[in-house]
Amino acid sequence: MAEKVTIGNAELWHGDCREVLPLLPRFDLILTDPPYGIGAARGSHSNLKMDDEAWDDATPPDWLFGLMREKGRQLIVWGGNYFNLPPTRGFLFWDKSPMPPSYAVGEMAWTSIDMNAAKWCGKVGDDVPVKDRDHPTQKPVRLLEWCISKAENVASVCDPFMGSGTTGVACARMGLQFVGIERERKYFDIACRRIEQAYAQPRLFEDAKVGAGDTAVQGDMLLPANA
Ligand SMILES: C[S@@+](CC[C@H](N)C(=O)[O-])C[C@H]1O[C@@H](n2cnc3c(N)ncnc32)[C@H](O)[C@@H]1O
Repeated sequence: MAEKVTIGNAELWHGDCREVLPLLPRFDLILTDPPYGIGAARGSHSNLKMDDEAWDDATPPDWLFGLMREKGRQLIVWGGNYFNLPPTRGFLFWDKSPMPPSYAVGEMAWTSIDMNAAKWCGKVGDDVPVKDRDHPTQKPVRLLEWCISKAENVASVCDPFMGSGTTGVACARMGLQFVGIERERKYFDIACRRIEQAYAQPRLFEDAKVGAGDTAVQGDMLLPANA
């Protein structure tokens, strides 16, 4: 049975998105970062220092991507290259360089948005030092804010694989309605805490233009490195 917690303008579900998402209304944007199945292919990703957890062992079924397209007027899926999604012009690229030679220099997101492909530059530990992250694949908040800025007329956002709640933190900072779903109790509790903290803090940079963060230089002007 799924449990719901409400924090500010955020509704957080502890449960399985295959059961909860069908019950939810339509959103302006579904922005998500599903398991890439890297756990199943651990042999080819031996550099990853991830907890030995089952959540990343399998990718979501194709029908769930179909449901996400129905439930989201616009859809952005990180790790889009791992999934069975149609060709798109408007993909997003997160340039993480410089990275050690044996690590990937970036990640790709599939989008349903008809736009030019775009790139965001920023370190993996852009907002939190890597050793202090709450989730092994936690994304920088400013990366998620930049993603939201690429979609049109967004008032409501859903992340069915919310992990530590980074999309929810971005929405709290941007004043947007957010609905998140997370299956693992540990990460759900962390998401609740992070989103509560985001609501408790005034926005530090009210006039920051998140859409302008397409380069590392502009991005670094918004927050001190590793703040
Ligand atoms: C790649 S992580 C997301 C990390 C997130 N972007 C962040 O910054 O913390 C994917 C998350 O989806 C969760 N998950 C996997 N299958 C799920 C399901 N069927 N329903 C809900 N959550 C699920 C996993 O527990 C994991 O925390």
